[in-house]
Amino acid sequence: MPTASMDASPGTFMRTLDPLCIAEIEECDFSRLADKPRILTIERQRSFDGSLSELSIPLSPRHSSRNAEHYRIVDHLENIFSPGRRSNVSTPISQHCFEPHPMVAEAWEAIRHSLVYFRGQPVGTIAALDHSEEALNYNQVFVRDFVPSALAFLMNGEPEIVKNFLLKTLRLQSGEKKIDRFKLGEGVMPASFKVFHDPIRNYETLIADFGETAIGRVAPVDSGFWWIILLRAYTKSTGDSSLAEMPECQKGMRLILALCLSEGFDTFPTLLCADGCSMIDRRMGVYGYPIEIQALFFMALRCALLLLKQDDEGKEFVERITKRLHALSYHMRNYFWLDFQQLNDIYRYKTEEYSHTAVNKFNVIPDSLPYWVFDFMPTRGGYFIGNVSPARMDVRWFCLGNCIAILSSMATPEQSAAIMDLIEARWQELVGEMPLKVCYPAIEGHEWQIETGCDPKNTRWSYHNGGSWPVLLWLLTAACIKTGRPQIARRAIELAETRLLKDSWPEYYDGKLGRFVGKQARKFQTWSIAGYLVAKMMLEDPSHLGMISLEEDKQMKPLMKRSASWTC
Ligand code: GLC
Repeated sequence: MPTASMDASPGTFMRTLDPLCIAEIEECDFSRLADKPRILTIERQRSFDGSLSELSIPLSPRHSSRNAEHYRIVDHLENIFSPGRRSNVSTPISQHCFEPHPMVAEAWEAIRHSLVYFRGQPVGTIAALDHSEEALNYNQVFVRDFVPSALAFLMNGEPEIVKNFLLKTLRLQSGEKKIDRFKLGEGVMPASFKVFHDPIRNYETLIADFGETAIGRVAPVDSGFWWIILLRAYTKSTGDSSLAEMPECQKGMRLILALCLSEGFDTFPTLLCADGCSMIDRRMGVYGYPIEIQALFFMALRCALLLLKQDDEGKEFVERITKRLHALSYHMRNYFWLDFQQLNDIYRYKTEEYSHTAVNKFNVIPDSLPYWVFDFMPTRGGYFIGNVSPARMDVRWFCLGNCIAILSSMATPEQSAAIMDLIEARWQELVGEMPLKVCYPAIEGHEWQIETGCDPKNTRWSYHNGGSWPVLLWLLTAACIKTGRPQIARRAIELAETRLLKDSWPEYYDGKLGRFVGKQARKFQTWSIAGYLVAKMMLEDPSHLGMISLEEDKQMKPLMKRSASWTC
């Protein structure tokens, strides 16, 4: 077993790389993972040679020792930061600053206030610390909300809280989950949990919500995926593979995977979902095969491949995952992808085609495409649309799904570049005055009535319906770094810095340009704060990206053409 010393903040520690850990770091082709992972040479090199000149490298107050050099896998960052991918379109390069922004210290203070303790140990962060509004369930630790907090702690060299969180949620997974008289699948991870203090026994317990108290009573499909993704981020960042190797963690992963790999009536490799089962947790017409879930599913499958032990049970899962990934990437890259050419093809589609030779496989009626998409689509650029199912293409833009598609390499490098082109070309619409639109455009009028069920919180350009969510900044920044365009992230961060702190870290902003603090937005929303911190830390030290990004699997090439028949 090779040993490598890793630079970790704030101190330095030694780590031993065992085969699981090496496979995890290597991010090799997942189709080859059924074999034993190859041993890698690790050498010391500058963490960020490619586009270093574009990045400001201010010294972080907490971990300035990190910035100079890092141990890294030799061939890892070369691809990510290929200078050829950088854009020269309309995004001004801002002044490099070498002083940490004053907001950073404020943000850390706010994050620390949001810590939730269980029997003396920090186990997560509260969703929002806003005393001016009714708490509802914002006083709980949400799994998805904790992810940016966790990344901030990992980047700051504080992995303990992340480990505690992963273990505690794992315990919650193993409890019985019932909604009315119906028992949920074993693998379901909670949407959120809270600490209950029994004053009589002076005893604390954790109470989880699997959807049984949430508005709409929908179980979170994304929680399990985020849990696996976070476990891999923890392993990657600390080099400690012992947590992932624990039998409990292996079992937890398998339970999550069993839920989404089970065979049924599906003809698509995508995952069928109810509305409101992810970040957009209210009815918003995202039922079916929402891009957010498909991208997270893809990423979680790839992370699981890196973390699963290859014992008898693990091997079986590895095979199933590998097959599913092949089918899923084919499906997503071909049928969810929309660019100018594709739009033009669909516009001219014939309908009622039968048999394997059909070009319009899902019988999409061209007239069902909304007018706005023809103006919105730039000549250069493209994106994964919101949803594809029989005769239904939801062509709305969803930020989270597209960023995760880039980070997980579900998108090809060309598609990733095209998504960034689109963000630049449609900056006003997708970023406006406050990053970033959760989806675009808003639905209104009759469509709003039908799709949202007349939801007064999701009125046009508010909340989930075209609202702007600062938390998405970290995802944009990660995608920007991966595609070699940090200047886009810097521009977005600068926008956020003009208001976020002054407005007390709102949950979301309203309006076409995101100019107004959201109507019912909570203040001191933890993931708005953590999202900002993670974005800053990643720009400062782009090697952090490795925690949350996976390189392209070479086996996925070449991109097959949409018109190819089912048999290829
Ligand atoms: C809102 C968001 C959801 C988030 C929760 C807690 O319901 O839609 O994604 O997890 O608030 O912040």
